[in-house]
Amino acid sequence: MKVSIDLDKCCGHARCYAVDSELFQLDDSGYALRADIDIPPGAEDKARQAVNECPERAISLH
Ligand code: F3S
Repeated sequence: MKVSIDLDKCCGHARCYAVDSELFQLDDSGYALRADIDIPPGAEDKARQAVNECPERAISLH
């Protein structure tokens, strides 16, 4: 499973980071750092939670 973050949509709400700070790292300005993230086994629920919590709907699962 992979997560994609549309960096153009990200407004720095940091809800993804609050869900899992290792998966969803932020840059120095508080915006999502990486557009493509491999989800390790066992972290799928966190990934889904982050998708649901991003107010900008910037995160999607593949
Ligand atoms: Fe950006 Fe959404 Fe996370 S706006 S910092 S991807 S919660």
